[in-house]
Amino acid sequence: MIQIAPSILSADFTRLAEEVRAVESAGADRIHIDVMDGRFVPNISMGPFIVEAIDSLTDLPLEAHLMIEEPDRYIDVFMDAGADVIIVHQENTTHLHRVVQSVRERGKQAGVALNPATPAQVIDGIVDDLDLVLVMSVNPGFSGQRFIESVLPKIRRVRETISDRGIDCDLEVDGGVNADTAPAAVSAGVNVLVAATAVFKHPDGIAEGIRTLRE
Ligand code: DX5
Ligand code: ZN
Repeated sequence: MIQIAPSILSADFTRLAEEVRAVESAGADRIHIDVMDGRFVPNISMGPFIVEAIDSLTDLPLEAHLMIEEPDRYIDVFMDAGADVIIVHQENTTHLHRVVQSVRERGKQAGVALNPATPAQVIDGIVDDLDLVLVMSVNPGFSGQRFIESVLPKIRRVRETISDRGIDCDLEVDGGVNADTAPAAVSAGVNVLVAATAVFKHPDGIAEGIRTLRE
């Protein structure tokens, strides 16, 4: 079963409550919240107070994708705000195992994200302790970018690792995911699709965006 995680980065923030309810009633499986600090990525987005606001609007699981420097300093505030899944980047998390351990100690799910240039092998030593691996299919920072096809072999490699070890770990793809690019990502092994533009900016509306992705 493929899950769909709309990223609220492309939502209309003047109508956030309606947008969140719309994705929920259209059958979204979780909500993806992109946190950017203007340092790890060249954009600034939202902080824990948005997570708290969304948590008050929906029962869907919330995942916080932390594109920030020193993510270990902020994981607790995001969990306090209501994040159910904490995703940190491998590239800037020195003590990855410690972060994953702290997240899981609180009964939450831990995920690790890999930028397009980061090889799959870097998760080999930690994957047994993860609930999710996020393969970025754009360089993080903005929605509306083109899907980078060359990440597909990496997705396959991560899927092989997960299968070989027999672990229960989600494999998610994020960036440029739409009805044209999703099939290749799913064939390569992902089971969670993150999409901002394809859901919130679909010309026929959010429900249609989710429907076409699922199809
Ligand atoms: C990119 C973010 C993505 C982004 C996806 O840095 O991590 O979650 O919102 O946007 P689309 O689906 O438009 O590529
Ligand atoms: Zn994201």
